[in-house]
Amino acid sequence: MKDIVPAPPPMVHNQFETIRELFSKNVVPSYGRFDLAFTHGASSHVFDVAGKRYLDLGGGIAVTSLGHSHPAITKTLIEQSKKLLHVSNLYYHEPQGRLAEAIVKLIAPGKVFFCNSGAEANEGLFKLARKFGHDEGRFEILTATNSFHGRTLAGISATGQEKVKKGFEPMTPGFRHVPYNDLQAMREAISPATVAILIEGVQGEGGVTQATPEYLLGLRALCDEKKLLLLMDGVQCGHFRTGRFQSFQRILENSQLSTLNSQPFLPDGIAMAKSLGGGFPIGAFWARAPYADLLGAGTHGTTFGGTPLGCAVALKILEVIQRENLADNARNIGGFLKSGLEQLAQKYPGVIHNVRGLGLMLGMELAPNLAKLPGDPAKSQSLRFVNVLHAAGLLTIPAGTQVIRLLPALNLRPSEAEEGLKIIESAIAKLAG
Ligand SMILES: Cc1ncc(COP(=O)(O)O)c(C=O)c1O
Repeated sequence: MKDIVPAPPPMVHNQFETIRELFSKNVVPSYGRFDLAFTHGASSHVFDVAGKRYLDLGGGIAVTSLGHSHPAITKTLIEQSKKLLHVSNLYYHEPQGRLAEAIVKLIAPGKVFFCNSGAEANEGLFKLARKFGHDEGRFEILTATNSFHGRTLAGISATGQEKVKKGFEPMTPGFRHVPYNDLQAMREAISPATVAILIEGVQGEGGVTQATPEYLLGLRALCDEKKLLLLMDGVQCGHFRTGRFQSFQRILENSQLSTLNSQPFLPDGIAMAKSLGGGFPIGAFWARAPYADLLGAGTHGTTFGGTPLGCAVALKILEVIQRENLADNARNIGGFLKSGLEQLAQKYPGVIHNVRGLGLMLGMELAPNLAKLPGDPAKSQSLRFVNVLHAAGLLTIPAGTQVIRLLPALNLRPSEAEEGLKIIESAIAKLAG
């Protein structure tokens, strides 16, 4: 019998150029990619097509929460796929209900909507806010300068960085950007059309900058005063990355003021994705109880939102995180990594400007004009430094032109953190002086 799809021509394995050629001929070139192609991974290591081993401290940009090829994820994928991969959201199934319940328990009374990505989780929050303000003609959402909220049209409109908007104007109306951590500027920016404020607890793409406790608490009071929704984008900084389920819980844990009028601080909506599925695409937003029913039947939806397979994987990840106490691991190993990087910043002030972040969301800002940094001077320092680390067998993520991000698996081991610090130090030492 003739094959319907002809057999592919034999691909020469272990050949990076063959794969790159496939991409250059067939894949939309919307990503700036590094010259690396991977075949497999285990825990916090991945292997490229030439068999070279890398320590993965980038975690697929805060996605691979349990590392690569975690046996519990593999087992869940196999078992659930034998039972039920997908049913439409026209019907009920247990994994979606159980995952929603688990997320509600981790935050506060409210309800959860499931989708497929971080951008889509934020889209849901935008629609929630629009619905909330609709009858009063309010629709405007204030976001922060340097924020990042995804690549859909509303996502780039919400994002406080010009580079993502360029070439795609006009933007979706109803978004304005206000300097981060500046409460007074936020107060002054509120207009009669404003309906919500959206911020990241720790800005990721913007270069690992965290909200201050005073800012979070001040925003809550401001939103209460002006009847606005306070929305948080926890897509990158959420899911125990900072040592607590959501970053605001970590940021406020030592704050004397962490309660307002004896109520614990709570946003009205939270977007999630990335680490939630550990590499399986799933996103979600949680909405606080008074607003949880605003999006009634027929107002919002997506075909693949909260499939049995995605929810089973996300539930298993939560179970492993809780059983193995990976929140504390993120806090402790993150603290160890951060103090190691701070020591390097002290030892090599001409190379490392400063170190920022919480738990396993860390940023290392390079000093300007690193004369010995190899690579094309037309490229940013962060890209060139990440390339230097690749050559030394370490994956990290650039943010902007100057910052290197570490967003590894939540189960990173002390020995792996030490390995990473050693590689970073030897790269820095070559650039010093
Ligand atoms: C804070 C934040 N929000 C939203 C997004 C978009 O998520 P996704 O790429 O899954 O659409 C990202 C992605 O990096 C992010 O960091």
